[in-house]
Amino acid sequence: MKEIMSAGFAALVLAACTGGETDRSVPESSEAPAAAQGGAITLAATPPMGFNTWNRFGCDVSETLVRGIADAMVESGMREVGYEYVVIDDCWQVDRGPDGIIVPDPDRFPSGMKAVADYVHERGLKFGLYTDAGPKTCEGRPGSLGYEEVDARTYADWGVDYVKVDWCHSDSLSAPVQYAKFREAFDATGRDMVLSICEWGRNRPWEWAGEIGQLWRTTADIRDNWDSVLWILEANNRHHEAAGPGHWNDPDMLEVGNGGMTVEEYRSHFSLWAMMAAPLIAGNDLRDMSDEIRDILTNEEVIAVDQDPLGVQGRIVLDRGYGAQVWAKPLADGSVAVALFNQRDGEMDGSVSWHEIGLDPGPANVRDLWTGEEFQHLDDGTIATRLRRPMPGHGVVMLRVTPAG
Ligand code: GLA
Repeated sequence: MKEIMSAGFAALVLAACTGGETDRSVPESSEAPAAAQGGAITLAATPPMGFNTWNRFGCDVSETLVRGIADAMVESGMREVGYEYVVIDDCWQVDRGPDGIIVPDPDRFPSGMKAVADYVHERGLKFGLYTDAGPKTCEGRPGSLGYEEVDARTYADWGVDYVKVDWCHSDSLSAPVQYAKFREAFDATGRDMVLSICEWGRNRPWEWAGEIGQLWRTTADIRDNWDSVLWILEANNRHHEAAGPGHWNDPDMLEVGNGGMTVEEYRSHFSLWAMMAAPLIAGNDLRDMSDEIRDILTNEEVIAVDQDPLGVQGRIVLDRGYGAQVWAKPLADGSVAVALFNQRDGEMDGSVSWHEIGLDPGPANVRDLWTGEEFQHLDDGTIATRLRRPMPGHGVVMLRVTPAG
């Protein structure tokens, strides 16, 4: 057994290796910067939530789409549960004017970006854009290299609140140097703009990006399939110590609702992104989603785990080696969020003991965040009293465990 400390908690005790099971317990982070930009955290104190055009629409972006999405974010109830940013990804830009100012596609954005931003703001939402640190974006549109200050001023004039900065055509550049230019240029405008760093984990951003941006991608692009989710979970989990209020690992945007996975798989995808305190950036067509998909994206109790103010990235605390994992995320009120995760096709039993999730033996109130079921469970520290739940194939049982006395 080894003792560890985590912010706001007394010493938590995590399980040592037990026969045949891999214990991945490592100390919680105490090294991540307390405030990325010094002083109080004003940007992304909890992981950003919103929508981005890329996963579903690719280059097919327009002001009509953005207006429709902003309306849908309100009408679907998503704004109500915390979704905030409406972000246009690649392909909105076509040129630079003689003054160096970036030019939006006049056919697709005939009203201009300021009008689009105003529309989004009028709905109580925030507005985001995409650019690239290199000379061109991934889709060959004009990038920001050498124009960081001009672009920052333009974005501020338009009312941009969030900027995703990609890394195509940038391999000869230094990522910390280039991204710091954006941070400085944004700060110089006096407007709060979230900086979303998107260099796919190439330059170990978990080591430096927290000083510069609010979130940084840790992997290559997500795809709308189960293998992609599994692979990203493993990769993003490795860097859990780097995350905290104002600076988050970004395992990429959500694919929930895009059609390539089952509802169960989308529920797992969403649950585990919440466990990892990931930015929750929907990537589906919000104007046209089923009730099942909307119910996943708007589950307030799962979102509360993601948005918990303690800001600890949940992690794999136990991998049983046959496709069953236990994930745990300590929460500000002393509860622990738990995901029993079944990577296999068929149903199997999941189990967890309090010591595996850093709690002392004793009674706890347990709430299933997907079914709403509530019950009390007494884990007295013996194997016989572990909490057991059936896990559907490719499914997650997500629980909030609150010690009771
Ligand atoms: C890269 C990024 C994606 C998306 C595309 C746009 O692949 O990682 O998220 O922004 O570029 O071209």
